[in-house]
Amino acid sequence: MPKKIFIKTFGCQMNEYDSDQIANLMNHHKGYQKTENMEDADLVVLNTCSIREKAEDKVYDQLGRIKELKMNKPSMKIAVGGCVASQEGDNIFKRAPYVDIIFGPQTLHRLSSMLEENEKKDQSQIDVSFPAIEKFDHLPNVKVDGYSGNVSIMEGCSKYCSFCVVPYTRGEEVSRPAEDIIEEVIKLTQQGVIEINLLGQNVNAYLYKDKKGFEYDFAELINFISQIDELQRIRFTTSHPNEMNESLINCFRDNKKLANFIHLPIQSGSDQVLAAMKRNYLYLEYKQIIKKLRAASPHILISSDFIVGFPGESDSDHQKTLKAIQEIDFDYSFSFIYSPRPGTPAAYLEDRTDTSVKKLRLKEIQDLIALQGKRHTQNMLNTHQRILVSEQIGVNKYKGRSDNNRIIEIEAPENIINKLINVKIVDVSKKNLTGILN
Ligand code: SAH
Ligand code: F3S
Repeated sequence: MPKKIFIKTFGCQMNEYDSDQIANLMNHHKGYQKTENMEDADLVVLNTCSIREKAEDKVYDQLGRIKELKMNKPSMKIAVGGCVASQEGDNIFKRAPYVDIIFGPQTLHRLSSMLEENEKKDQSQIDVSFPAIEKFDHLPNVKVDGYSGNVSIMEGCSKYCSFCVVPYTRGEEVSRPAEDIIEEVIKLTQQGVIEINLLGQNVNAYLYKDKKGFEYDFAELINFISQIDELQRIRFTTSHPNEMNESLINCFRDNKKLANFIHLPIQSGSDQVLAAMKRNYLYLEYKQIIKKLRAASPHILISSDFIVGFPGESDSDHQKTLKAIQEIDFDYSFSFIYSPRPGTPAAYLEDRTDTSVKKLRLKEIQDLIALQGKRHTQNMLNTHQRILVSEQIGVNKYKGRSDNNRIIEIEAPENIINKLINVKIVDVSKKNLTGILN
């Protein structure tokens, strides 16, 4: 009987991508089959996140549960990967001695050999190093079902925002060779994929020099990838304001395959807070980028990340963030209360703001953005949208996503699954919008 692997993923899309790779790798090398039931697993993998304290706590909660399972099934192996593994290293063995393997985001390709060592020597294994970009050379071809695929184009981050653990847990920015990315996208399209999501902590910091000395930046990579005929829609996440150059902005005007939506983290609307965060831009500069993006693509919707209650954030700073939200007219947000992370410079700053004040500020931000999002949805009435149909939900009834991430229901006489179609939005009153074929 094939052995079974259970993977629990915490955190960002990069981790989701890495978990798919882990499942693939263990299947390729050792024939492991995925299970959704932790109890049935021979190998339990926690792919962890340490971006905020709460995310980290969840890992130790899970480990407590798995310990009990392992007591009843001593042959069960436990592996901890991802950013908590990278940050905590062998401290995890001290807190949870029943863990067998600790691996980092850049050493996941070594999991199967680490498992072999563990079984051979009956010894716990750890490797949380950053061996450049070699992991991609060791990963088997990705398999997908459906129309949409993720491709990681770069790893890590070299921005060192004062609050953030990512540069320490995932390492500095490294870009994958453009040829490898193109090859991976082609393989995905051969499996039916028509939409690709380019992933990285700062995708627009992408830079690669090929053997002939040609340099590719992110805009060039997008334009290159878009030449693959079968590919119909391109998305990316996450981009950084400081790397938004003219050629990338022009892609939103000229490249018809690029979705007219961008997630561009701002964090705060106050220059003082932005400086303390070491974001290296002013609010006005961010606003200028948005102005150019709207000139290139008038209907583009913008989502963002916000940190609320950064040490020293005053009420007037918070008011500036609220004003920025209105001026930029954000559509959606991932917003969280600041969480001090060990080892980051901001963790040493004095934080005098009450938790109750931070919660109130967070709610104000989220309510305002939700209201704006609703208005954007209302404004979609009678507009034409491009939908990638992913699901049949009834007789002649289908569901898919627009460029700007709305779920649209469509009635169609013929099978439109896995197709990119143009629809006119005729009803915005329900949770999902309704569209008719153009
Ligand atoms: N590369 C992205 C950020 C990736 S981290 C960028 O361009 O900024 C994802 C988000 O987590 C960040 O944008 C930030 O809003 C949030 N985050 C990171 N560290 C945090 C912390 N210590 N406390 C609260 N939120 C944090
Ligand atoms: Fe983190 Fe800032 Fe990089 S938020 S991922 S250090 S851009």
